[in-house]
Amino acid sequence: MGIAVLIPAAGSGSRFGGEIPKQFLQLAGRPVLLHTVERFLLDDAVTRVVVAVAEPLLASVKRAPGDRVVFVAGGSTRQQSVMRALEAAGDDVDVIAVHDAVRPFFRTSTFAGIVSLAREHGAALPAVPLNDTIHVVGDEFVIKQTLDRSTLAAAQTPQVFRATILRDILDRAMREGIDGTDEATLAVRYGYTVKVVVGDVTNIKITRPEDMAIAESWLQETAE
Ligand code: CTP
Ligand code: MG
Repeated sequence: MGIAVLIPAAGSGSRFGGEIPKQFLQLAGRPVLLHTVERFLLDDAVTRVVVAVAEPLLASVKRAPGDRVVFVAGGSTRQQSVMRALEAAGDDVDVIAVHDAVRPFFRTSTFAGIVSLAREHGAALPAVPLNDTIHVVGDEFVIKQTLDRSTLAAAQTPQVFRATILRDILDRAMREGIDGTDEATLAVRYGYTVKVVVGDVTNIKITRPEDMAIAESWLQETAE
């Protein structure tokens, strides 16, 4: 059985700003989204890559990079975009990965490990230890509480699930009106085991313009 990869790419990039959503900005001459999709296409175990883009853009996607790539219309939140993509994942896959369009630096070598953990335990994702101390800040912007950093990890993608589990958690979340910022949160909520592997600090999510500058410099280094 194969792997489907769902790529939510229908966001507007409000924190990034600018006219063009960050996933379509050029990085070393190609859109960020294309870098991300191409990394998955290098993996023969990936049967299908489903990309959710904003509905108005769907008509302008003329050329998909390879016949394993499908485009669908995304929704108004990340979770809704993932749900739309899931409908096109196909029945011929046993595991499904969800990966942010704006994380072009994930390593395909780590992906294989996350997939096998997901097959074994049901769900797995990469996460990285935090560098900064995390405070809980109240309404008045005054520190209420300080969290124990050693117990915290920042979630990344690809987050991988047995297909049955991903379908179940998204269905239940939709019925309950819950909209999470990632699927692991939903899996935990509905009682599934979610394994964590130590992620790579270079697997950044391009969020603000500064991140794009970092991404450019990394690609230049690898090209040299
Ligand atoms: N995403 C999506 N559909 C949405 C919102 C987000 O497919 N309605 C996607 C983004 O395109 C991105 C991923 O989810 O690839 C991670 O989201 P994030 O980094 O938060 O991107 P945006 O939501 O676009 O940015 P912001 O939160 O700053 O507005
Ligand atoms: Mg967002």
